[in-house]
Amino acid sequence: MTASMTRYAGPISQAAVHAHALVANGFAEDQALAEVLDRYPPDLFDINLYDYDDEGQVSLRTGARGRLNGAELLEAIQQGRLWVNMRDVERGWPELWQATMAEFDRIMGEAYPGLKAVSRNGQLILSSPKARVPYHFDASGVILFHMRGRKRLFVFPGDEAHLPERSMEQVIARQTTEEIPYVRAFEQDAQAIDLEPGQALTWPFFAPHRVENLDRFCVSLSVDFQTWSSRLRRGALYTNAVVRSRGGAPRSTDQMGTPELAARWAASVLLKKTGALKSRLENFERDFVPQAGAVDGAGRLNAEAAGGQG
Ligand SMILES: [Fe+2]
Repeated sequence: MTASMTRYAGPISQAAVHAHALVANGFAEDQALAEVLDRYPPDLFDINLYDYDDEGQVSLRTGARGRLNGAELLEAIQQGRLWVNMRDVERGWPELWQATMAEFDRIMGEAYPGLKAVSRNGQLILSSPKARVPYHFDASGVILFHMRGRKRLFVFPGDEAHLPERSMEQVIARQTTEEIPYVRAFEQDAQAIDLEPGQALTWPFFAPHRVENLDRFCVSLSVDFQTWSSRLRRGALYTNAVVRSRGGAPRSTDQMGTPELAARWAASVLLKKTGALKSRLENFERDFVPQAGAVDGAGRLNAEAAGGQG
């Protein structure tokens, strides 16, 4: 299967669907969502609106949290074309996180007994019926717990053609808002998987993917996690980004054994501490606030409405 052709497969060699039990707890129902939207820390919201041209190239608009209450914000998402990402679920919704971690441990223990997660982080994703997420990769392992609606994941090979190391470095070092390069011809190499509530999806570490919602409001919890192996690789890519920014030509992490990856990871820890590379993404302007009834659910941003953003 083409989707297994990844350099960073780790213990997960191909995309796989697993059953999970989070839906029955009611976490994804309107009332629970409206309540959590009301109390979720405003600085943990990412609100995105993606537009695509005829070639499938994406442009991104970002929204501020604004002042809608939870029920109104939920309505704007359900009517619009928004992608709302609520970061750090472990902090924002501990009850959901606790239930999810029990499922994480069970699924990983059954399906990938050798896998040892050394860090885990959750994002609750609420997305509009026609929302689509562009081609990208996450520098971690991911398991996506789908809880409401229907969506289609496209998983691509993680080889140099689909995931160039130089682009990975730029994304990991947060030097660009752009994702890795995408061309339509990649589609013939994709594996498509449809997800229903109660299903969780895993795919090889770092494998590029994109998402299309299938005409339903969707609720999913994405858990990204590191193993020691993925952490070393990610750190080595960061160090390579710094070396490259100083005119160097680092060799591919594909050619490095564990000792060299570990040394580069250790260097990355120091480089981050000393602020070797400034993130270019920290302070960017927002483009809209969520609003039910507005085109795409994106209302006009004004000074007053922007006051709620973190
Ligand atoms: Fe992703």
